[in-house]
Amino acid sequence: MTPDSSFHLLAVIGAGNMGSGIAQKMATEGFRVLLVDVDDEKAARGRKIIEQTLADGVQRKIFRPDAAGAILSRVMPTSRFEDLGAADLVVEAVFEDFDLKKRVFSRLDEVCKPGAILGTNTSSYSVTELAAATRWPERVIGLHYFYHPAKNRLVEVVGGKASDPAVLRRAWRLQEALGKTPIASSDAYGFIVNRFFLPWLTEAIRILDEGVAGTATIDEAAKKAFGIGMGPFELMNVTGVPIALHAATTLGGAFGPLYAAPALLRSQVESGEPWPIDGTVDTGLFTLIGDRLATAVFYVAAALVDEGVGTIDDTDIGARVGLRWRRGPFELMNAYGLERALDLVQSFTTQWQLPVPRVLEEQARSSRPFTFTVVRTDVANSIATLTINRPDKLNAINGDVIAALEEAFSQAVANPAVTGIVIAGAGKAFIAGADIRFFVKNIESGEIDRIAVFTERAQNLLRSFETCPKPVIARVHGMALGGGVELALACHRIIATPKATFAFPETGIGIYPGLGGTQRTTRRVGKGLAKWLVLTGETISATDAAAIGLIDAVVPYEELDAAIAAAVAAGPVVDREAGRMPASHQAIAEYFDRSDIAALREPGETTHDDPRIAKAATRIGAKAPIAVRIAADLIDQGLDLPLADGLRLELSHLREIFSTKDAYEGLSSLGKKPPVFTGT
Ligand SMILES: NC(=O)c1ccc[n+]([C@@H]2O[C@H](COP(=O)([O-])OP(=O)(O)OC[C@H]3O[C@@H](n4cnc5c(N)ncnc54)[C@H](O)[C@@H]3O)[C@@H](O)[C@H]2O)c1
Repeated sequence: MTPDSSFHLLAVIGAGNMGSGIAQKMATEGFRVLLVDVDDEKAARGRKIIEQTLADGVQRKIFRPDAAGAILSRVMPTSRFEDLGAADLVVEAVFEDFDLKKRVFSRLDEVCKPGAILGTNTSSYSVTELAAATRWPERVIGLHYFYHPAKNRLVEVVGGKASDPAVLRRAWRLQEALGKTPIASSDAYGFIVNRFFLPWLTEAIRILDEGVAGTATIDEAAKKAFGIGMGPFELMNVTGVPIALHAATTLGGAFGPLYAAPALLRSQVESGEPWPIDGTVDTGLFTLIGDRLATAVFYVAAALVDEGVGTIDDTDIGARVGLRWRRGPFELMNAYGLERALDLVQSFTTQWQLPVPRVLEEQARSSRPFTFTVVRTDVANSIATLTINRPDKLNAINGDVIAALEEAFSQAVANPAVTGIVIAGAGKAFIAGADIRFFVKNIESGEIDRIAVFTERAQNLLRSFETCPKPVIARVHGMALGGGVELALACHRIIATPKATFAFPETGIGIYPGLGGTQRTTRRVGKGLAKWLVLTGETISATDAAAIGLIDAVVPYEELDAAIAAAVAAGPVVDREAGRMPASHQAIAEYFDRSDIAALREPGETTHDDPRIAKAATRIGAKAPIAVRIAADLIDQGLDLPLADGLRLELSHLREIFSTKDAYEGLSSLGKKPPVFTGT
């Protein structure tokens, strides 16, 4: 079964840098993919690029050798366009040549089946104009990936004038099934990201040309201002200086002199040399350079939003995910203060004789910063889907998310046209737990009370899901960790795709699940398995989660919405029966049910005959002892209490756990080094 059963076969045309990477990602996510090029040799070369990348991945322990072999076996190189007859989606990634692309599209028209979606990875041509080369322009869309497309998560999904919204929706879902972070762009030159990225590059070139600073200083200033690993000149050297010239020529033609190639860029390309990037760095110029680069970006980002090319949210997500900037343009404007950002942009627009973008002018006049849609509400077929929209933070829950969910949820409850409510996550993950930085910050400032207040507020929100008279469904299409699992458990039903995973990592970072994880898990899967999950942090697949009754169903991605609609029609679940116990998990459930916590942590137990139990015991030994003890007690004591009392009990130990040294050690080490717990 492919991750999305309505896409049996995918295809990529052009087995070059982009095409091979796109095909690699599709195959990695479990899809069979045709990789097409002009002759067999070129197609095979594309597959060879994938083989090489996978071999590097094996060496760096990203893939196991057998997994890499399986991925490669799903890539089928060919030069026969007729093979495309069975493909459900084709991505065109041939040379950036309009006539060539048009020829490819008319050929696709002849060989592809009627329902197939045709996407172009063009960077600079109009999707609408390419679509005009086919008989079915409604199924042609832009799918603009970023280098390296197997690694960079961003994809701009572009609707042409004739694109069918249903086609765009299907293609969007496929990108999510591929683990991508899609953003929506209209069919304008440069789409969203290149539209502001290119002027960022050309502003750097102008700073150099005016003799303000050398390349080394500009690169370092940019790295600092945007929180990135490479400055504009080094980046151009890596991706190819001619590509920047090509982009500037296209965008300059479409939008005028601000976007056009500076003479210095042209002469650099003519020299055939990369930019010289050595030299001394003058830190005294950092602020001036940072401001100039930021101002160009502020203007363009605001102008593209004014024009309806993209939203404020998608522009910022594009910058963070696609370019790996620490902040998106609008967040950065907020950080500058909008009055100052407007001042800078006003001088810039005077210099370039351009209008001041309305969105910035009006927001600055309101004296409030830009706000972001942390939770998006879409109502379709009387179902309100509330999507947490922080894809690059894996939708981690913080105070803003809770506040936005409270508001969106109460509106959906109050809306008589809404019969069911779905909680979902944008991008690759469902929800990767609570935002750890919030915890660390408050421990450091001695404000543990704020953590307790946040947790209680989040518990109340989750309780309102559970007691809602309308059915509330968790739509889990990716990773659910800690608070994400807890949020799902408070919904009436949890419906997942095969890619979803579930885990409680809390005891491994010095704390315990505080949003009902020690209470609702037990009520779903019984005490033994609840302890196994909460105390060991074991990650389980959606299939296993369904087998033990932690979740309600696993369906292929494409069937998710239909399954959710059926769950809404079935109404809220009031009394849930305890989960069934499959034979596969019987031994571990019994073991954890019986053993007291001292025995579970006993080193001798690691030699247990059952390998799963031995592994569990070893894992518990590496967790924070106080967190393990409190979590185990909460599971034991909560089971006989009414749920509301159990939840209160869970809250009552929060201050204690967040005051331990181990909590600070675990939370502050996350992603940096393995924590060393001392049991204090
Ligand atoms: N390189 C980037 O960073 C980047 C980023 C986003 C989008 N793009 C776009 O992706 C597309 C491909 O770029 P690339 O860098 O991978 O180019 P590339 O030159 O590496 O690869 C192009 C491939 O297309 C093949 N090809 C040419 N004509 C063909 C035909 N008629 N049928 C089948 N295959 C054909 C070529 O043999 C070659 O293997 C371009 O439209 C480019 O603008 C590139």
